[in-house]
Amino acid sequence: MSEFAEIILDGKSFKLPIFTGSEGEKSIDITSLRAETGYVTLDSGYKNTGSTKSAITFLDGEKGILRYRGYSIEELAEKSTFLEVAYLLINGELPAKAELDHFTTRIRRHTLVNEDMRKIFDGFPVNAHPMGVMAALASAMATFYPGSIDPNRSPEAIDLTITRLLAKMPTLATWAYKNSLGHPVNYPKNSLGYCANFLHMMFALPVEDYEVDPDVEKALDTLLILHADHEQNCSASTVRLAGSSQVSLYSAVSAGISSLWGPLHGGANQQVIEMLEKIKEDGGGSKKWLDKAKDKDDPFRLMGFGHRVYKNFDPRAKIIKVACDKVLNKLGINDPALDIAKELEEAALSDEYFVERKLYPNVDFYSGIIYRALGIPTDMFTVMFALGRLPGWIAQWKEMRGEGQPIGRPRQIYVGEQLRSYVNIDKR
Ligand code: CMC
Repeated sequence: MSEFAEIILDGKSFKLPIFTGSEGEKSIDITSLRAETGYVTLDSGYKNTGSTKSAITFLDGEKGILRYRGYSIEELAEKSTFLEVAYLLINGELPAKAELDHFTTRIRRHTLVNEDMRKIFDGFPVNAHPMGVMAALASAMATFYPGSIDPNRSPEAIDLTITRLLAKMPTLATWAYKNSLGHPVNYPKNSLGYCANFLHMMFALPVEDYEVDPDVEKALDTLLILHADHEQNCSASTVRLAGSSQVSLYSAVSAGISSLWGPLHGGANQQVIEMLEKIKEDGGGSKKWLDKAKDKDDPFRLMGFGHRVYKNFDPRAKIIKVACDKVLNKLGINDPALDIAKELEEAALSDEYFVERKLYPNVDFYSGIIYRALGIPTDMFTVMFALGRLPGWIAQWKEMRGEGQPIGRPRQIYVGEQLRSYVNIDKR
């Protein structure tokens, strides 16, 4: 053991190996701690726990750095496409032209969904939240493709599951939306690119022509790239944890969708727009809302602000803010929510409470305004996040399974009653 940490417990010294990541991040390997000392570590919310080694995404929250497989998010957002980024995340390298063509063609060939899946939609209430629908349908896919349940499936079978997920989730997402409107669903049009096909299925109507606006398509592609992975966040950790029991990838992704839905995670993008609308209806102004956010007796939080790991700025938010101005200008949209968001941001960034706690706008602060400009309804915002995050979940799952990682099973420190005798009901 060349580098180690020394821990003294009950007067005895123990050495724990230090593991250093490729960007110089240091960790103390506590794998043997309990066996050697009887102690476990305690870290609610895993604020300081490295749950895995990973070669997918690098993030430095202090410096505002985000890289997929070593490529900066800024460069990928500018030069790449979502499917290229998906390939990169899942396979580790940027694809050569022939590889990308093969990957894209395979996804195109799998965009259709088994007609029996359409019947599932009939069971949901009309106003069902599409995230609940998506989680249920992702899980249902395991029943339509039972080969995916076999934990010893071949690499080819895994590849097919990955292709099906990437190909069919946009179809299912748009069907969830169409169903909520009571409109007929659109079938995929495979001559279109990934995002154009999604927009076609979302917005085309049998009664009129629909042409995908290339600016809208590009903006959507960029948003999906920015959401594609974010290392061990709540939903990715959920996918890994669920997947570690060797359940089907479809089920692990379903668990990830459920986890993403919460307002503290991906659900924040819907909450941000709802908050901005509320502020607008209230007459605007930032002071009242910042005061509410700072008041510990008030449950209100400034949605789209703060992040577990970014303590300087969220690089995705920077890109999205610029994209937001660009898209609204190009589409000639004047959204008062954008002015309110900018005013809130400016006020919060010079407010002692937010400065002290290093709270900055996160990816969700401006993304909702873009989604709205693209015509995406509010309760579909988190679904857009899920579609973007899909390659990340898949990559995290594939890495975990490929390395044969053990089932995830944290310990706890029990603080309940000690052994006591059963009391008959008439004596309680
Ligand atoms: N508004 C007001 N106060 C806040 C906010 C906020 N948005 N975020 C954090 N704080 C305060 C919090 O009250 C605490 O104050 P104190 O130290 O006085 O108790 C301090 O800042 C630290 O907050 P925390 O909740 O302990 O931090 P966390 O790392 O556990 O939570 C977070 C991170 C993102 C859940 C939180 O900042 C939050 O609730 N933000 C609003 C929801 C949101 O925008 N979520 C999307 C996250 S980005 C998309 C994604 O990757 O999912």
